[in-house]
Amino acid sequence: MFEFGDRVQLSDAKGNKHTIVLVPDKEFHTHRGALLHNDIVGLPEGSMVTSTNGTTYMVLKPLLLDHILAMPRGAAVIYPRDSAQIVVEADIFPGATVVEAGVGSGGLSSYLLRAIGPQGTLVSFERREDFALTAKKNVEAFVGEAPTNWEVVVGDLQEVAPTRSDLVGKVDRLILDMLAPWECVETAKTLLKPGGVLCIYVATTTQLSRVAETLRIHQSWTESRAWEMLVRGWHLEGLSVRPEHRMVGHTGFLLTTRRLADGVTPLTKRSKPAPGAYGPDWTAPDTSALAPNPSIAEQTEGQ
Ligand SMILES: C[S@@+](CC[C@H](N)C(=O)[O-])C[C@H]1O[C@@H](n2cnc3c(N)ncnc32)[C@H](O)[C@@H]1O
Repeated sequence: MFEFGDRVQLSDAKGNKHTIVLVPDKEFHTHRGALLHNDIVGLPEGSMVTSTNGTTYMVLKPLLLDHILAMPRGAAVIYPRDSAQIVVEADIFPGATVVEAGVGSGGLSSYLLRAIGPQGTLVSFERREDFALTAKKNVEAFVGEAPTNWEVVVGDLQEVAPTRSDLVGKVDRLILDMLAPWECVETAKTLLKPGGVLCIYVATTTQLSRVAETLRIHQSWTESRAWEMLVRGWHLEGLSVRPEHRMVGHTGFLLTTRRLADGVTPLTKRSKPAPGAYGPDWTAPDTSALAPNPSIAEQTEGQ
């Protein structure tokens, strides 16, 4: 039954949705008339209520995906369909210690918090203070309070996280959603436990290629796996059962890899890349900034 303080989603017959928080004696107004919040209190979810001009609304508590698609955004959010992939493919488990950067609008954070449960810990790094604040407000608006197992740190992941002794070598899963994730590869190694999963979300193929090659040169990771999610909705009406005419054609690419133990190098593929796979003008990259271990630089020079 609905109570004062609940978040409630009102949907009309056309599918228009409004989310309100129930407050004693308050009214919800649109050009379709007014609804008294008191009239919703005590009803079970899935009830119908009618406004003063006769418009009927269905009342439900919003799902987390409704909240994420409607919440205020400082930066682009990870869509729920990609968050679902991250939870499964990055193997986010109850009790895990998870780090994410950047937190943006907090779109992914809510799903990570659900997946780790109350025994887990989520530390989210965000370089922009205003975005960090938006993310906190968005997560708290849905949960109803600030989760005690969630810390939002303002600062660049690669500068702040390595100074945190509670995180160095203790992180199970690390998620990067930022413009230049290749800048955080060394930090990812510093934070993750051996076997820990690094999951990277990027919007473009050029970012995907650059981060994949950086990981390869870094020599501390299993072979990367990359994919994207295409979701096509279906129209369901009588005999007209067909794909929707419109779809979101692109959100981003996901890449996962796992941290190797210290002192080992990755397994090499038996088949060599095709001649020209790296382009005719390709030269061995300068690995000195990435690889403090000189043996790694020696290995790549010969390629
Ligand atoms: C696309 S948004 C993240 C969206 C977020 N995952 C969500 O679902 O709402 C990217 C964010 O990364 C932040 N950022 C970029 N580089 C960063 C870094 N090195 N450390 C911390 N935050 C960073 C940006 O300020 C921006 O807010």
